[in-house]
Amino acid sequence: MAPIPTTDNKRVIMNKLILLAPFILLLSCSGGKNAKTDNKAEITGKYSITEMAFGMLEEKAITEYTITNPSGMQVSIINYGGTVTKLITPDKNKNMGDVILGFDSLGGYLQKNDPYFGSLVGRYANRIANAKFNVKGKTFPLAANDHGNSLHGGNKGYDKVVWSAAKLPGDSSLELTYLSKDGEEGYPGNLNVKVVYTLTGDNGIKIDYSATTDKTTPVNLTSHCYFNLSAGADSTILDHQLEIAADKYTPVNDVLIPTGEIATTKGTPMDFTTPKAIGRDILQVKGGFDHNWVLNKNGNSLEKVAGLYEPNSGRYMEVLTTEPGLQFYSGNFLDGTLTGTKNGQKYVQHGALCLEAQHYPDSPNEPSFPNTLLKPGETYRQTTEYRFSVK
Ligand code: GAL
Repeated sequence: MAPIPTTDNKRVIMNKLILLAPFILLLSCSGGKNAKTDNKAEITGKYSITEMAFGMLEEKAITEYTITNPSGMQVSIINYGGTVTKLITPDKNKNMGDVILGFDSLGGYLQKNDPYFGSLVGRYANRIANAKFNVKGKTFPLAANDHGNSLHGGNKGYDKVVWSAAKLPGDSSLELTYLSKDGEEGYPGNLNVKVVYTLTGDNGIKIDYSATTDKTTPVNLTSHCYFNLSAGADSTILDHQLEIAADKYTPVNDVLIPTGEIATTKGTPMDFTTPKAIGRDILQVKGGFDHNWVLNKNGNSLEKVAGLYEPNSGRYMEVLTTEPGLQFYSGNFLDGTLTGTKNGQKYVQHGALCLEAQHYPDSPNEPSFPNTLLKPGETYRQTTEYRFSVK
């Protein structure tokens, strides 16, 4: 126990404090040499990429790369799973906050029940029914890791592999490459995959994907960031307002496999053609939103397809993509039990949402859906951008 100060002692302590006062004041004002005392953006006026050790896996170094743009927005990415670990954007008062869910360390991302936080997903994002598909009369069996179906590329999809990373000239882009070998997780063909993350000058994170193969194979790549634009202030996204430019969606069965039907959203809880709070109709949808919206856009041009607004922070996120579909998943399987989360936050049900630009789930088994087969000699390409502003 600390001794109780006598009157004399108190005087000595007071004198010492008076002598130290200018230094204490100086320290608290400067916050130490490099520490910032607020969470305002550091306006650097230039792009930079810094590197930080994030652990080791399979004898490979895992590194966290942080790209900063001239106005201080930051994105951090690790070469494990090509995972976006942080996305720091300003709110309407210029306070910076991390708008995606994730873990504090590599150990968190290695947990068996990591729900694909921030990761790249492939070779085939979302589900393939009965964990098999045919190419030219030959059946390819896949890992049945979700109610007899194959989810997000199988047991060890692209979210669980170590990518090669390279900083590109200009300090605004990080290139990730991965060779997915013929037969990996049951998929045919050596697939050379390249993903370039770019932080743009207008606060966008742009993801350019490309891939080539030496055998015909289905390919459907996406990014699986869980967004909560309140940056930790609100535990759910039910008050976020969402708009999706889609008059149609693909209904699913009990295990989230598309029935093959393309249904209208008009007059249903699936209608997000004008901005709507996510919580408004969610209880009318069994299990919550977890569907593919058939985007109104034509062809594969890069177009704005969705907008997400969080009224308290004023943050607004636009989604632009070249893809024909958008999987809106309202974080239905989050249940507050994950450990190792950022700052020990509880990630409760609907604590975040995913807007995954991609082709429709189970396309390899649905001939009427847009084609997802990539042939030798062709190049798979997709671009998606998440662009941040305030209003
Ligand atoms: C989503 C998918 C959900 C769930 C989630 C991961 O992409 O639509 O059904 O599997 O990933 O927990």
